Amino acid sequence: MIAVRVPAKVNVQLGVGGLRADGFHDLANVFFAVALGDEVTAVFGQGVTISCSGPDADQVPLDDTNLAARAARLLAARHGIEPDVHLHIAKAIPVAGGMAGGSADGAAALVACDALWQLDTPLPVLLELAAELGSDVPFALLGGVALGRGRGELLEELPVAGTFHWVFAVADGGLSTPAVFRECDRLREAAGTGSSAAEVPTPDPSAELLAALAAGDPAALAAALGNDLQAAALSLRPDLADCLRAGLDAGALAALVSGSGPTCAFLAKDAADAQAVADALTASGTCRAAHATHGPVPGARVIAG
Ligand code: C5P
Repeated sequence: MIAVRVPAKVNVQLGVGGLRADGFHDLANVFFAVALGDEVTAVFGQGVTISCSGPDADQVPLDDTNLAARAARLLAARHGIEPDVHLHIAKAIPVAGGMAGGSADGAAALVACDALWQLDTPLPVLLELAAELGSDVPFALLGGVALGRGRGELLEELPVAGTFHWVFAVADGGLSTPAVFRECDRLREAAGTGSSAAEVPTPDPSAELLAALAAGDPAALAAALGNDLQAAALSLRPDLADCLRAGLDAGALAALVSGSGPTCAFLAKDAADAQAVADALTASGTCRAAHATHGPVPGARVIAG
């Protein structure tokens, strides 16, 4: 049996460029891996089968559309072997929550199957397979803090000092990532700025944000956080504004929608403040649950086996 731990991500900067001809958007995407994560275990099986446990387990597809199943098949095909594995996902990352939970399970399955089948696939090949699975999968392999260019899959590790403390407020229901990108395009069209790659400049990482990460300075990071998908997520889910406000009222340094949402992310000064913000959010009734956590943490790693 192989067990792999894999982190969720929050985008501390999500700069969204125009819509490309291939249906994706060019990004300046600063990924940050947090300790809130899933655990994926792999044992030998017949074909690829999936099971899932955790509070959101009933929302996780157990068929071939699951990114963990797709990852197992892709890795086996690359090596010309039969994909015989049973994968169990112990799910803590909110489903369709904007924290790349499905992508995390895809990355974890690559690492777990690689160890179970004793393939020793080099990291560059795993990263290439990960990019085939989805824009956020390569980062879940790498972890830490990284800048993602292109559609988010071209990664460059970023220097970061110390530990930052976060709170994540889980909303009822999920948001579809393509729907949030479409809403972002629609809002740009409505504002008259256009939404195509020819009309929207390619975003760049914020110098202030990179400096705040390198310095380990939460107040400076709070001032530099930015998510170009936030307006679109709030347009589709106006109730999230109440959750963002409740976290700020409880003393968070900053609040933002995590990725395409609907999970809301809050940066706190330290671990004690993060717990206080999480408790206040839970009591506020503006979210289903709130978790205090920290980061950065490493990407998908074997923890047993
Ligand atoms: O790469 P992934 O399959 O996770 O992307 C899901 C969807 O999110 C894409 O089909 C696209 O609609 C949208 N997306 C995008 N630009 C990106 C990443 C994702 O428009 N850079």
